[in-house]
Amino acid sequence: MIRITETIFRDAHQSLIATRMRTSDMVPVAKALDQIGYHAMEVWGGATFDASLRFLNEDPWERLRILRAAMPNTKLQMLLRGQNLLGYRHYPDDVVSAFIRASVRNGIDIIRIFDALNDARNVRLAIHETKEAGAHAQAAISYTKSPVHDIGHYVQKAQEYVNLGADSICIKDMSGILLPYDAYELVSRIKDAVQVPLELHSHCSTGMANQSYLKAVEAGVDILDTALSPFANGTSQPPTEAVIAQFINTPYDSGLDIKPLAEIAEYFEELRSKYVSEGLLNPKVMRTNVSTLINQVPGGMYSNLLSQLGQQQALHRLDEVLEEVPHVRKDLGYPPLVTPMSQMVATQAVFNVLLGERYKIVPKEIKNYVRGMYGRPPAEISKEIVQKIIGDERQIQVRPADLLEPMMHKIPSEIKKYMEQDEDELTYLLFPQVALEFFQRRETGLYKIDTDLWHMDSEDETYPV
Ligand code: CO
Repeated sequence: MIRITETIFRDAHQSLIATRMRTSDMVPVAKALDQIGYHAMEVWGGATFDASLRFLNEDPWERLRILRAAMPNTKLQMLLRGQNLLGYRHYPDDVVSAFIRASVRNGIDIIRIFDALNDARNVRLAIHETKEAGAHAQAAISYTKSPVHDIGHYVQKAQEYVNLGADSICIKDMSGILLPYDAYELVSRIKDAVQVPLELHSHCSTGMANQSYLKAVEAGVDILDTALSPFANGTSQPPTEAVIAQFINTPYDSGLDIKPLAEIAEYFEELRSKYVSEGLLNPKVMRTNVSTLINQVPGGMYSNLLSQLGQQQALHRLDEVLEEVPHVRKDLGYPPLVTPMSQMVATQAVFNVLLGERYKIVPKEIKNYVRGMYGRPPAEISKEIVQKIIGDERQIQVRPADLLEPMMHKIPSEIKKYMEQDEDELTYLLFPQVALEFFQRRETGLYKIDTDLWHMDSEDETYPV
């Protein structure tokens, strides 16, 4: 029997409508969703925290409490980027601990924890703190392909994460590049190696996810991530109703009834039309992007490259840049092309091609990566490349967060005066500027949600994760 995690309140709208689903649009249907019998609903984390504050003028903590109250029978899940929490850099341990405790206190049951580089040192504390707080710690492995990312590598990662205390493992195929027969072998091998439940999270970006889910189920995967049909497919997850239907009357039957889901889907169909009319659903997210299968460049990264080259009047050099991407990735030790690595590798590839010389200019982020500030690359970076990028500087060997000073309880009083709850300190530490502007609007009672202000453009696009 398989179990289903519903993503419509998190990944589905992050992937299709740039994370713009509002709490007020979730509440009317939350009670009905609570009756379905899902294994879990992913409702928080990822880009939703930042987007709530930045674009929707909503307090993400309030959203969580509202959903918790509306869905008392369903486990609520969030996505957490390990030591990066929900931000884009490493945070010191005291912030990680406080953030996880606050997430659980406000209603989270399951925390899915991952690191872009699959560096266990970047997820260790988060797993530990999740369990200390009494929640389920799921460790997710970012799936990519390279000469060092063979199946044995993932099996070893799964064992490593279970040894750190992970209560379950997730294969996180953010680019949708996991092929069906690879899924079969990967799931079989991980299931043989670890005793905890195994979940598969994929995206339909390349048109593979449905078939990979089927093969993964045959190989013994326990849980699948899906999104109700109006917010499924494209760069989102496979449709919940179809995934449930294909296993009815088989040994894998989820036991879920698709009739009530059809009624709920009608609600989301109308909601989808509303977001379409607001210009939030870019048609390109619904396209099947097979080029990712060929050159490993995921959809979000591709549009990023187009916009960077467009700004330099160099669109005619796209093919050269696409050829340069795998070269840069190899030089940098085969990082998975997921945020933030995808943007960093893209930028370096553009520089290398446009300047006609490799690593003549190197962005600060790439230097920090080579210094070891993001964690350990999957493969070692050659001495020549290290020399070219950071000269004689030494690479750090410690866990990046070991170099960070504690940050809690040091908020300046001019900011503290805006705070209304303990959680506001965490909001401020993650996104200081955005948080302060939000606090100021909140104080004036201006909960203005003006859709004209945030039509999607290439700059503020959030990527499927
Ligand atoms: Co995802």
